[in-house]
Amino acid sequence: MKASLKACDVVIFGGGGDLAMRKLLPALYHLDMDGLLAPTTRIIGASRREVSTAEYQEKIRAALDEFVPSSVGDEKTWPRFKERLSYVSVDAQQETDFSRLNDHQIGGDNRDVVFYLATSPDLFGSICSSLASHGLNAERMRVVLEKPLGRDLMSSRAINDEVMKNFNEQQAFRIDHYLGKETVQNLLAIRFGNTLFEPLWDSAHIDNVQITVSETVGVEGRWGYYDNAGAMRDMVQNHLIQLLCLVAMEPPGRMDADSVRDEKIKVLKALRPIAGANAYTKTVRGQYAKGMIKGKDVKGYFDEEGSNPNSRTETFVALRADIDNWRWAGVPFYLRTGKRLGQRYSEIVIQYKAVPHSIFSDESNRQLQRNQLIIRLQPEEKISLTVMNKVPGASEGMNLQPVDLNLSLTEAFNDKRSPEAYERLLLDVMRNDATLFMRYDEVEAAWKWVDGIMSAWSQTSERPKEYASGSWGPAASMALPIKDGRNWHDY
Ligand code: BG6
Repeated sequence: MKASLKACDVVIFGGGGDLAMRKLLPALYHLDMDGLLAPTTRIIGASRREVSTAEYQEKIRAALDEFVPSSVGDEKTWPRFKERLSYVSVDAQQETDFSRLNDHQIGGDNRDVVFYLATSPDLFGSICSSLASHGLNAERMRVVLEKPLGRDLMSSRAINDEVMKNFNEQQAFRIDHYLGKETVQNLLAIRFGNTLFEPLWDSAHIDNVQITVSETVGVEGRWGYYDNAGAMRDMVQNHLIQLLCLVAMEPPGRMDADSVRDEKIKVLKALRPIAGANAYTKTVRGQYAKGMIKGKDVKGYFDEEGSNPNSRTETFVALRADIDNWRWAGVPFYLRTGKRLGQRYSEIVIQYKAVPHSIFSDESNRQLQRNQLIIRLQPEEKISLTVMNKVPGASEGMNLQPVDLNLSLTEAFNDKRSPEAYERLLLDVMRNDATLFMRYDEVEAAWKWVDGIMSAWSQTSERPKEYASGSWGPAASMALPIKDGRNWHDY
């Protein structure tokens, strides 16, 4: 990583919340540990509660004990990090409270400022307007907007319009933490740092692409939020579609914000709409029932705290997307994601076409397996390429077998800690590099596509299909690629 040694103030609205404690502060701590924060960079928690700076520092210490165990007893970084931390009580809906940020010298000495809005998106507009009325929207000040940006195209536009009244597009960093994952960036390195893959990256050579983000967790006490969103809005509209864009986009001229985003938007615009009856043949929705994960009984969606038995919110989605352009004509992109599935893993699988003709006479070799490139994001970060090989041994004749060429990032770079997604992204905001953030036209195009599917779903009396926790989702999702003569890649 390149250093971000320009001093700045990082103000976190929702500074005492779950995201701040679990992800943002641990990420900032790691950046400090790696020497990537300027000596005078400050981190300021802001929220409605009246808390002293000392109490806030204690809360963060406890969070680091839990989420960064290696920080326990770290006498080098913690004292320095603690000095950076302070707290300002600001009620996001009370404009007058924002003067406390001025009292706190936010942005003083011409510093850059990052306002991280880790709050409900309903507050984005009023926070931005109060910041502006206190002079806190100069060019060197940026806002980071956490997802979800709305729950459909209309609401997302309304939120965005409010933000844009006081900040311009260059100052708005719409975050999708999947873009900060190491292997996702490695996908760009694989595609555009090698001559090997790009000439074969098209419908002449690739049969289908599969993107799976499978989670074992359920709604984890946030039924209220989740039931209002569902897997489509929570995962597909952002994380999965962003991965699809990086796989499918044309090579950008340069690795900079507009060049990359100009290519992604073309993919989004080429996504074939799924609407009406197509929504039944091309998508599958599911809801988890009770079951067993890793030997433990787990609850069904309707047994979760706060649940409503009439909910039709999907906790699982599988779908077939098609991209209407020359490169991808006829290549299905199968996407699936769900909660309470059998295994936590995320991967992108590029399945190549079969060889056009097998020269091997042996019966067992007639069905040569196809090459596949697997980019695994989690739990482990690795890239593997399956190729056909001869089984060693004179008596084996030309007996072939698939073998994986594995690149494990942990093994290849064993002295390097793999940073969490939020580390990379926070550093990028501090450096003012928006390449891995979403421009509003991307968010809008993704909502348009998703809205079409959700509107088709809302016109049916059919409920999402039940699936047992610990399974791979509803049986119909298995059938989705099978209908096209294909299969999901097994983990
Ligand atoms: C979040 C979703 O954006 O991503 C969560 O709101 C989901 O529901 C999470 O659990 C998954 O992120 P990761 O990095 O753990 O795969």
